[in-house]
Amino acid sequence: MPYAMGMNARLPILTSTLLLTMALSHAADPISQKPFGELNGQAVTAYTLTNAHGMSAEILDLGGIVRRLHVADKDGKMADIVLGCKDVDSYINDSPYFGCITGRYANRIANGKFTLDEKTYTLATNNDPNHLHGGNVGFNKKVWKAEAAVKDGDPTLTLTYVSPDGEEGYPGELTSVVTYSVTKDNALKITYKATTDKPTVLNLTHHGYFNLAGHDSGKTILDHDLQLHCDAFTPTDATAIPTGEIRKVAGTPFDFTKPHAIGARVDAENQQLTYGKGYDHNFVINGEAGTLRPVARVVHAPSGRVMEMQSDDHGVQLYIGNFLDGSFEGKDGVTYQHRQGFCLECQRHPDTPNQASFPSAVLRPGETYTKTTVYQFSTQ
Ligand code: BGC
Repeated sequence: MPYAMGMNARLPILTSTLLLTMALSHAADPISQKPFGELNGQAVTAYTLTNAHGMSAEILDLGGIVRRLHVADKDGKMADIVLGCKDVDSYINDSPYFGCITGRYANRIANGKFTLDEKTYTLATNNDPNHLHGGNVGFNKKVWKAEAAVKDGDPTLTLTYVSPDGEEGYPGELTSVVTYSVTKDNALKITYKATTDKPTVLNLTHHGYFNLAGHDSGKTILDHDLQLHCDAFTPTDATAIPTGEIRKVAGTPFDFTKPHAIGARVDAENQQLTYGKGYDHNFVINGEAGTLRPVARVVHAPSGRVMEMQSDDHGVQLYIGNFLDGSFEGKDGVTYQHRQGFCLECQRHPDTPNQASFPSAVLRPGETYTKTTVYQFSTQ
């Protein structure tokens, strides 16, 4: 009986089948959801997307906020690597835009005014003289319609928000659809689509604050090594509005074309660093906009975590949490210190509606705004 197995030979197979079954029964569901409070009587829900490796993202239908992002270190230990708030109230009233979708226009519009097709529009000036991140009640403070499903094998959350004509002073009814997925190769992938019924301006982005040591590590991000595939940046005036110049980074503290610790030159003598209180600048991504291409690579050597970012947008805002000052209590009772998180926000350049030399941020009826950003995680 050459093919018959004795009891002893079967045991290892039975044991491994049992272990596999146990492991599978303990594997997290790819999608789960739970209530996260309410906003003006509207329920807010937290969705958790988990891939087969255990990487997970907790995303709120409030503002499309990525509230938690669990990523493995070089020893397989998970940590939550994004800063976040404790509850809805804190996200609405205190949050420095942690993890949200900013819109309609990410970053600043000078003096809250722009002219489109000879008509001037006035927006809220919620950042000294300027308009910031869509105004008083931007897309980060809206409850989006959510649909969770496994698509192409990846847990995916699709969020839709219809912004009425005139909301926050912007023209046109704008329908935005933002899709998050946690992919099988450990990326948080974000796609954006939008259409309008009147000419308008638009600039959507994801405003995650990352700390690859863990949001609760108590450490700043100054020891993270950053490489930016950007040969130029947009210098700003004293109110953080671009001057219109596209300046080469070579020879300046903005040169991250080769990897450097974020903190290596952040306090160097440079007029731009004074104005932005550290890095708070937009860079021009090398290569062709409209094509998904490398933007940044960030390495945190002690944990071995690596974040690689790709986008098809024109620019990326590097902001390193200069305005965090230890007074803000976030989730899990953690108090965030100065420069405890960095943001890499792919977007059109700030103030594009007033800057004729920058690539346009105008969206017209019949056109579809599309863009993709990928934050990919690995270890080394
Ligand atoms: C801006 C900063 C701002 C931060 C939080 C960033 O995108 O560039 O100037 O302080 O968002 O609002």
